[in-house]
Amino acid sequence: MDISFRLNGESVALTDVAPTVTALDWLREARGLTATKEGCNEGDCGACTVMVTDADGTTQALNACILFLPQLNGRALRTVEGISGPDGALHPVQQAMVDHHGSQCGFCTPGFVASMAVAHANGDTDHDTALAGNLCRCTGYVPIIRAARAAEEQPVPDWITADRSFFLPEISKSERQQPRTSAELAAAYLADPQATLVAGATDVGLWVTKQMRDLGQVIFLSRCADLQQIAEDKDTIRIGAGVTVARMIPLMEDVHPSFAAMLRRYGSAQVRAAATIGGNIANGSPIGDGPPALIALGATLHLRRGDTRRDMPLEDFFLDYGKQDRLGGEFVESVSFRRQPDRLRCYKLSKRFDQDISAVCGCFNITIVEGHVTAARIAFGGMAGTPKRALHVETALTGQPWTETTVTTALQGFAQDFTPMSDMRASARYRLQTAANMLRRYYLEDTGHSTSIMQVQP
Ligand SMILES: Cc1cc2nc3c(=O)[nH]c(=O)nc-3n(C[C@H](O)[C@H](O)[C@H](O)COP(=O)(O)OP(=O)(O)OC[C@H]3O[C@@H](n4cnc5c(N)ncnc54)[C@H](O)[C@@H]3O)c2cc1C
Ligand code: FES
Ligand code: FES
Repeated sequence: MDISFRLNGESVALTDVAPTVTALDWLREARGLTATKEGCNEGDCGACTVMVTDADGTTQALNACILFLPQLNGRALRTVEGISGPDGALHPVQQAMVDHHGSQCGFCTPGFVASMAVAHANGDTDHDTALAGNLCRCTGYVPIIRAARAAEEQPVPDWITADRSFFLPEISKSERQQPRTSAELAAAYLADPQATLVAGATDVGLWVTKQMRDLGQVIFLSRCADLQQIAEDKDTIRIGAGVTVARMIPLMEDVHPSFAAMLRRYGSAQVRAAATIGGNIANGSPIGDGPPALIALGATLHLRRGDTRRDMPLEDFFLDYGKQDRLGGEFVESVSFRRQPDRLRCYKLSKRFDQDISAVCGCFNITIVEGHVTAARIAFGGMAGTPKRALHVETALTGQPWTETTVTTALQGFAQDFTPMSDMRASARYRLQTAANMLRRYYLEDTGHSTSIMQVQP
């Protein structure tokens, strides 16, 4: 595979790139840029964070350990070596880290500096969120947050802004492994249905780095511009499979802010910048955060195989654990849902607030008209082998007065709807209890009670 990208301000052109070599391995082993560190090698610690700017000027932090080199095609990459100036001048966040003693053993420091430089370039001052994907074992974080705050007012250095308007001689051909449209993708995948599709690689990356799998033929989706579109009209919102979780947040803020709030706790900034909604659906994970919310919204999934398209309610896609209703050569093109009054609440329960997979994720969309439940769509992750609706609970609520008695009666439906498993994240009993508690929480919030510890005011 042939690719070209910018590395620390210089153009790089590579031919015959192995599709699953990671950016981290290439930087450290082929280029000797060893400042970017390898910690977990699975997207959890942020030691490998690099700064990546797209041709449209969007700058984001990504984990180089689960970023395949071809995913950099057409983009500008900065490692910590290039975050300082060409003459060795420190970037404002680097200087602030020195001034505020933000580094002790120093292992995490390049990753923190890359995340901080991205936030600095974007004018993002929510440092807790921006740095939630970076672990430090030494400093206790306070000096790092102080450094990030201190750098806020400093101007973005010109060598960083230069990455926002770069010219890259195009060397990559329109090849089967890197289609540029969903039509090209459809043809390539139909011709080779055994190929592995790679979107953000936040799952597939781990198949390589942790399971040492040989993926065989790979098709990258990241160049398919039409898969990255969001189409809105007065009735419907349609989200292309290649739209990242990071891009979904502002979209959802406008229409279903509780969904946006949950997505802000999806992985870390680095994971959200890579992970796509198509990958989150297609992987069929029972603990993915996107599907329960979309099912509660009544979303429709749009699949494509060659020139044939078919649609289905999203919940019908998930047949069983690890089994989805997807034919050979068929891929997720988009997901859509109709505009509706915002009654959606999403509750993500995990052991940590940030950067953690859900033990239980419950999404509730209950319509009340004149004090009665006229419609209820409730979907869960973490309660079965697939994302699944709570049909008995929905039936027990529908048509009833919206009262505590109705809710208490409906709670019995959870045991009929779900037989959850016990695993390292939660026991079956805990899952059933907390799922039921989430319905109580929805009712309490809807009737004016504050239930979130994040909302308690002194
Ligand atoms: C550190 C870390 C934290 C995470 N935290 C969360 C979290 O909080 N919540 C959560 O839900 N998930 C989380 N994940 C899981 C992961 O981010 C999601 O499952 C993600 O949405 C996958 O999307 P992707 O674009 O990275 O998919 P990829 O890894 O590229 O692909 C995943 C699967 O989907 C297939 N695929 C991708 N796109 C398509 C398509 N358009 N059509 C058909 N098949 C396709 C691939 O072939 C593969 O089988 C986390 C992962 C990591 C590494
Ligand atoms: S090495 Fe830990 S996130 Fe990449
Ligand atoms: S300074 Fe040691 S891990 Fe952060």
